[in-house]
Amino acid sequence: MDHFSYRRRILHCEEVPIPSLAERYGTPLYVYSKATLLHHLRQLQHAFAAVRPLICYSVKTNGNLHICRLMIEHGAGADVTSGGELYRALRSGATGDKIVFAGVGKTDAEFRYALDSNILMFNVESEAELHALAEVAGQLGRPARVALRVNPALPPKTHVKTDTSVKGTKFGLDIDSLLEFARPMVRHPHVQVVGLHMHLGSPILTTEPYREGVEKGLLLIDALRQQGHPIEYLNMGGGFGIHYRRQAALPASAFAEVIVPAVQKARCKLILEPGRFIVGNAGILVSRVLYTKDSGGKHFVIQDAAMNDLIRPTLYDSFHRIWPVAPADDIPAPPTDYEDDIPGTIKTEVVGPICESGDFLAHDRRLPPLHRGELLAIFSAGAYGMSMSSNYNGRCRAAEVLVDGATHRLIRRRETFEDLVRAEIEV
Ligand code: LLP
Repeated sequence: MDHFSYRRRILHCEEVPIPSLAERYGTPLYVYSKATLLHHLRQLQHAFAAVRPLICYSVKTNGNLHICRLMIEHGAGADVTSGGELYRALRSGATGDKIVFAGVGKTDAEFRYALDSNILMFNVESEAELHALAEVAGQLGRPARVALRVNPALPPKTHVKTDTSVKGTKFGLDIDSLLEFARPMVRHPHVQVVGLHMHLGSPILTTEPYREGVEKGLLLIDALRQQGHPIEYLNMGGGFGIHYRRQAALPASAFAEVIVPAVQKARCKLILEPGRFIVGNAGILVSRVLYTKDSGGKHFVIQDAAMNDLIRPTLYDSFHRIWPVAPADDIPAPPTDYEDDIPGTIKTEVVGPICESGDFLAHDRRLPPLHRGELLAIFSAGAYGMSMSSNYNGRCRAAEVLVDGATHRLIRRRETFEDLVRAEIEV
């Protein structure tokens, strides 16, 4: 469910008409719905309520301070993956006791920063990392709490670039050697193994991987406890999918049905690290059509959003629904389950201004005829949109607006040319 809807043929975010925002802030523009963000967070909180989970919002998904703060104000902690994300989480009001730190390549400086911030735990991904962390923790005289991140070696379940739990990816500890590696860490003076972590991949549209993951997790927790590790936490990561091409996402309750009984059985505290599920459908990217042209048998719509604003189609061939913000009277409502043929539409290449043929938002997409100046909505762009954006081709990053009912707030201004050279040394 989201709070983007057409009223009198004009797309609104909650009570606010999108054209008024585009007029005021320009395009490309990210627009987020507060009600949608909170709806999804609450869905997770309710679905898993029986085990009172710590929901650590995954900052990498959309790290805007206002969005992080909203999550934290409503009970979430933070899952961070770098010193920079830790900084964002702390700046947004997160307290260390609700922060977990993942990632295969944490530096000593990041260990120090996180230990000084008294974070809840590190998700450790290799033996070498654990030893490096122990050394820093020893120097600081602050013992580190860790969860061992296991790679549970599951079958493929999502796009190859975002599937983190098949054998042979760089993530986590090999499931076959984890116990052997954990044994000598019992009663280590500087690190305490208090949890087991896994993140299966993203996005995941079935419960099966979680079922297999928790099953393997329970066996490992038992074995780690037998070794003498005081395991208190099971962290199942993020990965819950959302609607993109069609209404394919599962409700939070479906994942809870699989995960909650296992957590109860293991007598553990549950940590989750959702990102996309919360913010994915809570954001759209608004662009404006610059030109149209026909070339090489294709119909192109060149609009002002590009791969630097939303790289997911280029990187993963991802599908984002696209529709005019104010469709003409004879244009049907935007499809929610994308069919091949939609009356009144033509096959369109939706592309941006960047000098790469990989700069596209949609290939062969059925869209109504579009004209210069028209606004487009690119849906489900709240997750991994702005957070993966760049300045490539000298493009200023988009502005971001957060809508709340009939009001809205600019939460990131559009970058200026000055911003583009700010970090460079004066010539
Ligand atoms: N925890 C860990 C350790 C992760 O690596 C991730 C995502 C998450 C949690 C949050 O996953 P989510 O709930 O958002 O699915 N850029 C890609 C997705 C990369 C995901 C990276 N890790 C995309 O645009 O699809």
